Amino acid sequence: MRDLESRLAARARGKEPSPIRELVRYMGIDGMISLGGGYPNPDTFVFDRIDVRFKGGESVALQGSELITASQYGPSNAHAALGRELIQWHQEKDGVELDPSRLVVLNGCQEGLYIAAYLFTDEDDSIALSEPAYPGALSAFKSFTRNFVSVPLDERGMVTVALEGELDRMAAEGEKLPKFIYTVPNGHNPGGVALATERKEHLLRIAAEHDLLILEDDPYQLVRLDDSDPPPTIQSMDSEGRVIRLDSFSKVFAPGLRIGYASGPEELMRQFVLFKQSSNLHTSMFIQAVLQKYMTKMGHDAFHAHIKDNCAFYRRNRDAMVDAAHEFLPHDVTYNVPNEGMFIWFVLPKSCDAKRMIDEQCEDLKVLLVPGSAFSTKGALKHCMRASFSMVTPQEIREGMKRFGEMVANEMARVG
Ligand SMILES: Cc1ncc(COP(=O)(O)O)c(C=O)c1O
Repeated sequence: MRDLESRLAARARGKEPSPIRELVRYMGIDGMISLGGGYPNPDTFVFDRIDVRFKGGESVALQGSELITASQYGPSNAHAALGRELIQWHQEKDGVELDPSRLVVLNGCQEGLYIAAYLFTDEDDSIALSEPAYPGALSAFKSFTRNFVSVPLDERGMVTVALEGELDRMAAEGEKLPKFIYTVPNGHNPGGVALATERKEHLLRIAAEHDLLILEDDPYQLVRLDDSDPPPTIQSMDSEGRVIRLDSFSKVFAPGLRIGYASGPEELMRQFVLFKQSSNLHTSMFIQAVLQKYMTKMGHDAFHAHIKDNCAFYRRNRDAMVDAAHEFLPHDVTYNVPNEGMFIWFVLPKSCDAKRMIDEQCEDLKVLLVPGSAFSTKGALKHCMRASFSMVTPQEIREGMKRFGEMVANEMARVG
């Protein structure tokens, strides 16, 4: 494996830890009199006690030392008690043993996408991915590079054979290889597909062959619509320390809290910590404390049970959308039935122009989907549309799909 320094983008090389932040870990030592940090005194904080009530009637209170911890500056990697919960959560969920040096709490997966691109990509570097791709990732990546090695996505996820072919070609022709491979293994946004386990193995072999990192962005892992257990993560199958994994609580707890975590090899997570030190110091201690109190109070089994209940809600909506698609869409519109996540990707006849359909018809027909070009690095996929079934009722889904069917019929009549 290449050394870390040579993988890093110029901007991230030789970064020094914040000399003051590095002292934080000594502050918890018994009997320490710290004249060091510039923290505000907790006696001046406004909160007396914070009560949080959850649906179902359970409640937790933040008070005393826990309240001070939640209100004060904290470590850049994780709120200590939440870090312990997450290590256990990750072990139970994925069978992967972490430790505090291999975990960094983030403001959602989105921050992890930005950090990965910040750390590894110079302007003349590229990132490998499949298309359609999550626009939030494209937006984060494009802050640093406009170069993408893109391969198709099919009903079994990223077409890894195509990736292998392209990377082999690039290597043979002496082209600079991508800095990492970006993948969404479950409930792909927008593709609504999962990456097959043998393709995960293949991806790891390709990464080993070309000495690449893999960024596993997995916010829909637990949004399972078929009641199955999640398949093995790429991280859990990695024996070489090539995977940076992003987990999110947005889809299973509350997205506005902005909380998720990155995990991976210690030297890579160290770079994530250095980024946090220089960008926002750490993810909100208050938000981390709320998640920790919830996980501790409810226990992980009850948390998983709550997530399963929500999956039943999404399953009903998925089924309503699939039924209505079957009823109202012309046969030459194809789609995959997702087993995870919140999206269905509709592929219309090639002659259709999804953006024009939305621009010209959505106001009259009162139905909105996202045109496919939003998910492409090169303005392709113009004949595709993403529909989400998360925020609507089954009745609205049926009516919406009926209107979408009308929109497609109008477009097909127009293009012949
Ligand atoms: C594939 C994918 N990655 C990342 C994110 C961002 O997740 P978070 O809310 O954890 O930042 C989303 C949100 O929709 C997503 O669909």
